[in-house]
Parts: sequence; structure tokens; C-alpha cells
Amino acid sequence: MSNKNTGGSRAQWASSLGFILAAAGSAVGLGNIWKFPGRAYEGGGGLFILIYIAIVILIGSTAMIAELTVGRATQKNAVGAFRQLAPRWKWVGGLGVFTGYVILTYYTQVGGWVLQYIAGYLTSPGTIFADPKGYFLGNVLGADRFPLGGAILFPFLFIACVVLVITKGVEGGIERFNKVAMPALFLLLLVLLGRAVTLPGAGEGLRYLLTIDLKALNGSTLLAALGQAFYSLSLGMGIMCTYGSYVKKTEDLGKNTAMICTLDTLVALIAAFIIIPAVFATGVEPGKGASFAFVSLAGVFEQMPLGAFFGVLFYTLLFFAALTSAISLLEGTVAYLTEEKGLSRTRATVLSAVGMFLIGVVYTLSQAHYNIRGIWLDGASGLTFPVFGDFLEFLTDRLLIPVGALAYCIFVGWVWGPHRGVAEIEREGVRFPFAKPWGLLVKYVVPAAIFIILFAGMVMGLALS
Ligand code: TRP
Repeated sequence: MSNKNTGGSRAQWASSLGFILAAAGSAVGLGNIWKFPGRAYEGGGGLFILIYIAIVILIGSTAMIAELTVGRATQKNAVGAFRQLAPRWKWVGGLGVFTGYVILTYYTQVGGWVLQYIAGYLTSPGTIFADPKGYFLGNVLGADRFPLGGAILFPFLFIACVVLVITKGVEGGIERFNKVAMPALFLLLLVLLGRAVTLPGAGEGLRYLLTIDLKALNGSTLLAALGQAFYSLSLGMGIMCTYGSYVKKTEDLGKNTAMICTLDTLVALIAAFIIIPAVFATGVEPGKGASFAFVSLAGVFEQMPLGAFFGVLFYTLLFFAALTSAISLLEGTVAYLTEEKGLSRTRATVLSAVGMFLIGVVYTLSQAHYNIRGIWLDGASGLTFPVFGDFLEFLTDRLLIPVGALAYCIFVGWVWGPHRGVAEIEREGVRFPFAKPWGLLVKYVVPAAIFIILFAGMVMGLALS
């Protein structure tokens, strides 16, 4: 899956499982475990989860089928697919490349934090258990000192891993590893779920997740859920288009979409049902939901036999989940630079890596500042950029990704035509039972919904800020 357009024979996923795991590997990542629980918490718990599931079923799967069918029909990467079908739409491919790169700047920083936690649980779990919040803010984000580990050393290591895999090609190592790592992550999540929900005091967290509080319903929550769904499913950037281009013609894209969406959503839900009860049980409530995956989980590990061991295991698996997602993100930039700009694969990879590292450092610094000012310490170092991290996430999750997904749906619905998508699914005797509803969704319902949510969310978001 590393070589894009090498002329003659194109790479293909060897098996149906290979594709599903690769797509799931791209989908399941930090978005599910680091972002989703915090989003659910901020969005009012049960209500957010309900909206999220509805969005995945109606909007997410529709958009995923749109991307996959374009990819498999053209056998091209995102930019190439548009060049072949409708050159005027090439900007959608370009927008996806840009969005992916912006995401990578902070994704690789958070990937670094994951590595730092592996190291932390290996060498000094006692320090983490003694003060989970202090460890995160101090050691990782550097609230009271320069975060050499969290902003420089470990992100550098994470980026080095991504670079290594991308330049070497992905087939042998990471794909094969994924077949073990993904099921292992899933099992471990179930174990942690068992521990978290039985912690004394966890009931309140469960109630929070199961209560539907309509007061939380507003444009901003809707947009957060929409952006999160696309983000988590790796949509809106042509990644699924590219992955779809490697799928055999005999594969059932409809069924595969259902499996990928289900798997991805299950992992996110389990993560929320681990982390939120743990937050309530341990009383550790860091100001920002985004740090739940680092701070609150310590409370779960501490109250488990072999807690430090499970800590190492958990963050190791999370590291691989993040790695496969980061690889799919960088593949977009590298494919663009090699195919459109004529750079060599190594050069494209290394250049991208340097840029994302330099921008990413600012992200971690901005987090520390936020925590210093808002929650932990008063008085800022003056070295940091408070709104930078929030800005990056707002830009990608709530604007660029929804716009990209909107463009894909409008393209398939109005330019390429839903009948071509259906024909692509059904070409080798596969039957697509949802051909009619999908056509209506991709043409009318989903574009309208994205447009309205985008508009409402922007207005609300700006009004709130
Ligand atoms: N889905 C990944 C996650 O949840 C992130 C990701 C990987 C992504 N590739 C993507 C998001 C493409 C949008 C588009 O962590």
C-alpha cells in the first residue's frame, strides 16, 4: 500500500481482512481514545453519544461509501482521482492533503506523549500514581518547566517511527503487526472497561453517559459530533478514497463500510465508558477533556493488580493505533509531493517530517500555557501561544474535514452521480441493498445536513468564544 502510481500493476490488499484492518487501522487512533471521551464529556454525555451514533450511521457511512467508490472506480489517489473524473474538483484533493498535514502537526505531538507514558509506566509508575495530574501537566506538558520530553524528545521519536515506516513501505511490518495489535487493543479495552465500571464511585460516570440531557443540544454540540465522526472515521481527506483504490473489485464495499464504522465506533464508545467513569470515580478532573486519556486512566491502573504492566501494555497498543493513523495521514502528503511535485519518496517524507515537528512543538507548548492559566498554576511563562492548539483543532475538526466530506458527497451526488457509485459496488455481482436510500442521502440529505450543521456550529462557536 505504499506505492501509489507506479505505472503498471497497482498494489492491492491481499485479502478482505487486510483492507478492513488497514482501513480500521487508519480509523482507530487517538481520535477514539484521546478525543472521543472528552468530547462526549463536554457534549453532555448521553446526548452526545446518541447524536454521534446517528451521525455515523446516516452521514459517516454515506460519506465513506462515496470516498471508497470513487477510489476503487478510478484506481487513483485522491488528487489523481479528481484529475481523471473532473479536473475542476482537484482542489478537494489538495484540501485533503493540507488538512491531513495540519492534523499531523499535533497528532505526532500527542503520539509523543503516548510514548512518554510508556516510558513513564516502565520506569516510575509510582510517580504517575502519586499525582496523575501533576505528572501530565508537569512532566509532559511542562507547566512549570520547558517540556523537553513532551514537546521535543518523544514527538521526535514518534515522528521517526512514522518516517521509518513510510519510507520503507507498509506492507510487511505494520500491516502484519496490525492484525495482532488491533485485536489485542480491543481485548485490553474490554479488560479496562471491566475495571473502570466497577471502581467505587463509577456509577455517577455511567449515569452521565446514559442520561440524555436535551439542554446540551445546540449547534456547537452538533458540529463537534459531526467533526468528531468524520475525524474518527478518517473521512473528508481522500484517505478512504486512496485506500479504496487498492480494494479488489470483488469486495463488498457496502458491507466493509458497515464493519469499519462499527469497529471504530465500538472502540470510541468503550474508551468513553472506561474513561468517564474513571474520571468520576477518581475525582481527577483535568480542565480539558483532551487529557482524560492520560490523567484519568492512571486511577484505573493504580487500582488494578499489575497496574503498571497494564499501563505499559495499554499505551503500547495506543501507540500502534496512533502510528497506523499517522501513517495514513502522512501518506496523503507524501503521495502528493511525489506524484504532483516530483520529489523522491524519502525526500518528501523527511521534508514533511521536519515541518510538522517544528509546528507541532508549538502545540504542546500551547497546551501547557492553557493549563497554567486556566487550571493549575496562575501566571504564564510568556513563552507560549495560548490559543494555537485550540485553533488547530477547530480549523481541522470543525471546518476543513466537514468541508472536505461535504465536497466528496456533492461530487458523488451531483457530478459523478450516485448511480456510478452503486454500479461500482455492484460490479461483480455484489448486491447493495441500500442503493436507493444511499443515493438520496449522498445527494440531498447529507450535503444539506453538513451544510446546516457547519453553519449553525460556526455561528454558535464564534458566539461562544
Ligand atoms: N481516524 C484517526 C483517529 O481517529 C485520525 C485520522 C487518520 C484521520 N487518518 C485520517 C482523520 C484521515 C481524518 C482523515 O485518530
